[in-house]
Amino acid sequence: MAAPITQTPPLPADHPKSLDDDDHRLCSGINQCSLLEQHHPHPPSSSSDSSSSLLGSPSRGLNGEWRIERAWAHWKKLGQPKLIVAPMVDNSELPFRLLCRKYGAEAAYTPMLHSRIFSETEKYRSQEFTTCKEDRPLFVQFCANDPDILCQAAQVVEPYCDYVDINLGCPQRIAKRGNYGAFLMENLPLIKSLVQKLALNLNVPVSCKIRIFPKLQDTITYAQMLEDAGCSLLAVHGRTRDEKDGRKVRANWDAIKAVKGAVRIPVLANGNIRHMDDVHSCLEETGADGVLSAESLLENPALFAGFRTAEWVGSDESSEDGKLDQADLVVEYLKLCERYPVPWRMIRSHVHKMLGEWFRIHPHVREDLNAQSILTFEFLYDMVNRLRELGTTIPLYMKDTHSGGFLANGVATCTA
Ligand SMILES: Cc1cc2nc3c(=O)[nH]c(=O)nc-3n(C[C@H](O)[C@H](O)[C@H](O)COP(=O)(O)O)c2cc1C
Repeated sequence: MAAPITQTPPLPADHPKSLDDDDHRLCSGINQCSLLEQHHPHPPSSSSDSSSSLLGSPSRGLNGEWRIERAWAHWKKLGQPKLIVAPMVDNSELPFRLLCRKYGAEAAYTPMLHSRIFSETEKYRSQEFTTCKEDRPLFVQFCANDPDILCQAAQVVEPYCDYVDINLGCPQRIAKRGNYGAFLMENLPLIKSLVQKLALNLNVPVSCKIRIFPKLQDTITYAQMLEDAGCSLLAVHGRTRDEKDGRKVRANWDAIKAVKGAVRIPVLANGNIRHMDDVHSCLEETGADGVLSAESLLENPALFAGFRTAEWVGSDESSEDGKLDQADLVVEYLKLCERYPVPWRMIRSHVHKMLGEWFRIHPHVREDLNAQSILTFEFLYDMVNRLRELGTTIPLYMKDTHSGGFLANGVATCTA
């Protein structure tokens, strides 16, 4: 096996910062499926299937009606996924996506990739974007403020994904400094040019992930502009740019409903999806075509298979021990990381999120983890065993194990 990469080039100032103090080393040798260009010099595009005349060609020259039909044909070809892993920097990487897919996720976004760094730096490309054949349908998300650079980056990934997505929602200071994400909401002509450039030059459709404006009419006008510019799918995070803390501010599903009613392309709802009851209510209340979940999946990657943490069980007597817990999920995740290497900082972050409750009961185990400046799989597997030997049991629950939701969501069908 190749030696771990121990050095990476310094990151530009506007690069999203990593979540932990761990470095950018991959958790083991270079992952074969990360070096896409070397292994598939001319891979087929997923949507270049000539079986449908609606699919597989850039939107160039298509009138509005045809573009809408093409957007729906593509969405239907993908099986109209409803349960979707949201984009998360350093957190929606390949092994995590595969874990969520095993437990019911029907599609997933990559973390946001920086289009300029992606275009310029081979090491960034191979470390930050990895995929494999089970990792579909896939949205690859970029942040950008230059249409040509965005297009260059998008053309590298389009053979490996089903949508190229533009991040128009990042509210962080780093996005303000880099002039991307939600800060482009002040420059709608620039956003329009980003979408148009991709729609005219890619074989895969363009999607956008947006936040809402404080005024509903502004949000609607914005969404319609994106559709007219060639956006084929819109994910709406029902919070404004200033509503940064998702735990404190409830997402505005009414605004998502209004967007769904005002555009003709598929719309995904994002915000406040913590368990499957939320999924059903959100789809019903907004009329959206699917939902994205982020923070809750980090804690409970089996959410879309119907599992829920104790926090969301309440006094509901129909909930039962689901015979699965977060320690099981960590072990499954680690095995996927052994197979599909990612930087250790991502693994560290997931272990903390999934085992947060366990560490609250045994803080000394967390302290031991934090004291490791260099992680190994051996240490992490031992740590999980230690937690178990300490007698901790924090099950995930199923609301109604006889509903069939678990198996129907595909746990048994994943090959990853
Ligand atoms: C750790 C983390 C990283 C995130 N990174 C991204 C990102 O790369 N791109 C993006 O569009 N949104 C990103 N988000 C926002 C989520 O995709 C999502 O819009 C937000 O968390 C609201 O969904 P939730 O209520 O299910 O958490 C991130 C969120 C979290 C928690």
